[in-house]
Amino acid sequence: MLSFYQKHLNQLKTGDQFRSLKKISSPQERILSHQGKDYLNFASNNYLGLANHPKIKAAMIEGVERYGVGAGASRLINGSLQPFHDLEKKIARWKNSESALLFNSGYQANLGVLSCLLQEGDLILSDELNHASMIDGMRLSKAKKKVYPHFDLDVLKSLLQEARQEMSADQKILIVTESVFSMEGDIAPLQEILDLAEEFDAWIYLDEAHAVGVLGAHGAGLAETLWEHPAFSTRLIQMGTLGKALGCFGAYIAASQVLIDFLINHTRTFIFATALPPAVACAASQALEILQEESERRERLWSNMRFFQEAVSTLKLAQGISVQSPIVPVIVGENQKALEMSQKLFQQGFWVTAIRPPTVPVGKARLRLTLMSDHQKEDIKSLVEFLNFNKDDL
Ligand SMILES: Cc1ncc(COP(=O)(O)O)c(C=O)c1O
Repeated sequence: MLSFYQKHLNQLKTGDQFRSLKKISSPQERILSHQGKDYLNFASNNYLGLANHPKIKAAMIEGVERYGVGAGASRLINGSLQPFHDLEKKIARWKNSESALLFNSGYQANLGVLSCLLQEGDLILSDELNHASMIDGMRLSKAKKKVYPHFDLDVLKSLLQEARQEMSADQKILIVTESVFSMEGDIAPLQEILDLAEEFDAWIYLDEAHAVGVLGAHGAGLAETLWEHPAFSTRLIQMGTLGKALGCFGAYIAASQVLIDFLINHTRTFIFATALPPAVACAASQALEILQEESERRERLWSNMRFFQEAVSTLKLAQGISVQSPIVPVIVGENQKALEMSQKLFQQGFWVTAIRPPTVPVGKARLRLTLMSDHQKEDIKSLVEFLNFNKDDL
């Protein structure tokens, strides 16, 4: 049996698709320490530098002292701990929604919710570049699925038109999209998608994993910029994670109370899983306060994004680099080239990961650079110098 797996691993190595883990011995910060050497971290989703924040650590320690370590069982079995309810209330207020429900991770939220939200006869319309966790959830759904090209509103509209002609009024349509795409860093045309949802009586499932903390006046994500839209409170289901800009772990759905009650009763990744450690919810509550109060973190992040955009636009790279969010892909094409560039960066003291299929389409391997509020201008300058020096390979 092992020979099967060994052969498969060898094939991955031949195709430059083999993945392995690199140990680090420092917290998740601007500098990562690996085998005694320091690296500038341009690979983390810890956009606001909260993962090692002293107040959040203190909240977690206090949570452990008060509630212990483990939750003991699913929240439906042995009681639902107070910190979960406190955090859900805060999230609902922040996301301007009636209610919220915590999940153990973004992957589990997407998997569980998308598999149970729609029924046979319903339809899911999914952006082609949606995250694997959403794809897996949709695959488990009994609804019909159609994929539309990335951000192609014309195709989306014609799929909606077609569907509404064929489907009865009580059959549901759900448009599924990320707001900031995790591997592209581009931002979904949410206003137009909400307009289409209004016109064709559809719902929207919005994954804000990479938008919360980054977009919106209160860091509540892309949806925050559209609170006034009529579809916001009636058609939008907001998903977000606690492990990226919030620096903690876990995820949530923010939606109407009816939908949240439905999820509590039907989402298998919620019902059949031990709840998060309560101290994680204590930490995330504190992180949410800091995210809203310390808006200068978001300002520093945006200042770094502008600085990086200006610096790279002076380079004569074969491809343009567009900085729309803290995620900046530099697409190099072949897996081997992406690996070589990432290794070169590593040798120069930069931690930048090569992203290869199946995470991205074949032939679109890339370096995925991520910016953080804690980066200094000098860090960004040195990265841009590296890109300039290697521009013939980019
Ligand atoms: C867009 C998107 N959704 C969901 C997830 C999963 O979230 P989590 O890491 O909390 O499982 C991720 C990241 O891993 C992501 O990038």
